[in-house]
Amino acid sequence: MSKLVNFFANVLLTTGIVLLLGPPLARADEHGMYTIDQAYQGKYYFEQSCQNCHDVKFYKPVLQRYSGQSIMYLWETIMGTMPADNPGSLTDEEYMQIIAYILNQNNYPMGKNKLGIDNNLDELIIN
Ligand code: HEC
Repeated sequence: MSKLVNFFANVLLTTGIVLLLGPPLARADEHGMYTIDQAYQGKYYFEQSCQNCHDVKFYKPVLQRYSGQSIMYLWETIMGTMPADNPGSLTDEEYMQIIAYILNQNNYPMGKNKLGIDNNLDELIIN
């Protein structure tokens, strides 16, 4: 029995460590950088407006390419150019939620901090 308990304790510990070791961020702290609600909403808009042309795996190399740039820059780029067949067709907030979803799918930390223009988006650097 105690072996089983140990096993689960180890699984929990390992999962916790893997989660903590997500990509480092300039302002990464225990409060995360987007909320679970934002990521959840973003999944919806992503499936509606983005998934037809590129699935969520597409963004891993994109984020690597944007390394050293701010989330503000990524947000402005996406708003100005995407969806390619109708750029700027979503609200500012919806684009923000899509970015939260993309960050979530790439193991960036979520928490209490909301991803938003009034929340130092230009100081949030993609690593
Ligand atoms: C009608 C097709 C289409 C839709 C819909 C679409 N995209 Fe794109 N997207 C493209 C194409 C084409 C490119 C450029 C070629 C490539 O990199 O594959 C691209 C590139 C990108 C890039 C990379 C930009 C860069 O600088 O490297 C991002 C980020 C992106 N799209 C995000 C989105 C998001 C977010 C949505 C939904 C709001 C979306 N796209 C919807 C076609 C589309």
